[in-house]
Amino acid sequence: MSYNVALIPGDGIGPEIVEQAVQVLDTAGKKFGFTLNYTKLLMGGASIDVHGIPLTDETIETAKKNDAVLMGSIGGDAKTSPWYKLEPSRRPEAGLLKLRKSLNLFANLRPAYLYKELKDACPLRDEIIGDGFDMMIMRELTGGLYFGERKTVEENGVKKAIDTLTYDENEIRRIAKRGFDIAMKRRKKVTSVDKANVLDSSRLWRSVVEEVAKDYPEVTLEHMLVDNCAMQLVRDPKQFDVILTENMFGDILSDEASMVTGSIGMLSSASLNETSFGLYEPSHGSAPDIAGKDIANPIATILSAAMMLRFSLNLDEAADAIENAVSQVLKDGYRTGDIMSEGCTKVGCKEMGRLIAERV
Ligand code: NAD
Ligand code: IPM
Ligand code: MN
Repeated sequence: MSYNVALIPGDGIGPEIVEQAVQVLDTAGKKFGFTLNYTKLLMGGASIDVHGIPLTDETIETAKKNDAVLMGSIGGDAKTSPWYKLEPSRRPEAGLLKLRKSLNLFANLRPAYLYKELKDACPLRDEIIGDGFDMMIMRELTGGLYFGERKTVEENGVKKAIDTLTYDENEIRRIAKRGFDIAMKRRKKVTSVDKANVLDSSRLWRSVVEEVAKDYPEVTLEHMLVDNCAMQLVRDPKQFDVILTENMFGDILSDEASMVTGSIGMLSSASLNETSFGLYEPSHGSAPDIAGKDIANPIATILSAAMMLRFSLNLDEAADAIENAVSQVLKDGYRTGDIMSEGCTKVGCKEMGRLIAERV
């Protein structure tokens, strides 16, 4: 079988980590008898440098023609990069948001799982970690503050900036359904996170989630305020199965959850619409501080590639093999700097990719 995959290496560490994911995918292809045909696309700063804008319409159209998109990360250092002298709508991040919206990728799955071998990289105490934890953050990705009307105005000599947070019930319903569907395949618990004590959008969120929950009697639903959730994630992460939340809260909570898995370099993600198409990317950014040094952790991208095989290409066996290879490499004691602990062997990005491919 052969599949078409659009590749967006992006900026910073993006090209380094995507190269490793491709190596692992191609190794899996040889073993399990499939071929991936890649089309490289420019987005973010890399696209600005060539086209003057972070995402062209042609890139969107090409992305749509593929079975899935595998991405590294985009963006640069806001202090030093010329991209940030452009107006906000022409900066790297605007390209990513436009791509998500154009492809209707409303469901962002960010699995935060603590590998037994990474207990030492987790900053929490042993008695909190216990047997580890395994949660799925379901982040709404095409609504909320990210896509509301925004402007900066000046009134009577005073500058004022406005960002609006809007959700309609249909947007909430479709992400909630996806969250409950996923909970049914897991430990059947949904924690819906909002700020219903303050925000109207959260009160609507809560009532729609309650309504959806009626179709899933086997799933336990609890509501949690976002500030409490931020605290509970480090107090007792084991309590969570599926965390269902809106765009901005999900952005923040997933970075926090990543750190309790040892490093942001471990957190993969899948962004899905109503079809089998998806965009797969690590949850972290382009890490300009470590770009080009061959020290970035490629595992989040490699695990995102495994999610691509599973969700978009129906290649479960190959996805399992990649996930097992990641476990094995950690068992064998290899670590990039971000997850390094005593007694382990420190390796760079390329070597980590090679070691994982070898174990596929
Ligand atoms: P970041 O995630 O890039 O980096 C935060 C810290 O984590 C840095 O110290 C970095 O070195 C480290 N880190 C991140 N990924 C790592 C990896 N794989 N291995 C080892 N260490 C890793 O966040 P930031 O510094 O706030 O943002 C940098 C740029 O990335 C900004 O332009 C931002 O807009 C962009 N960004 C893009 C995405 C994306 O493409 N999806 C996501 C987040 C941030
Ligand atoms: C992420 C990133 C993006 C987001 C930025 C780069 C726009 O932080 O994918 O988590 O906020 O969604
Ligand atoms: Mn983020």
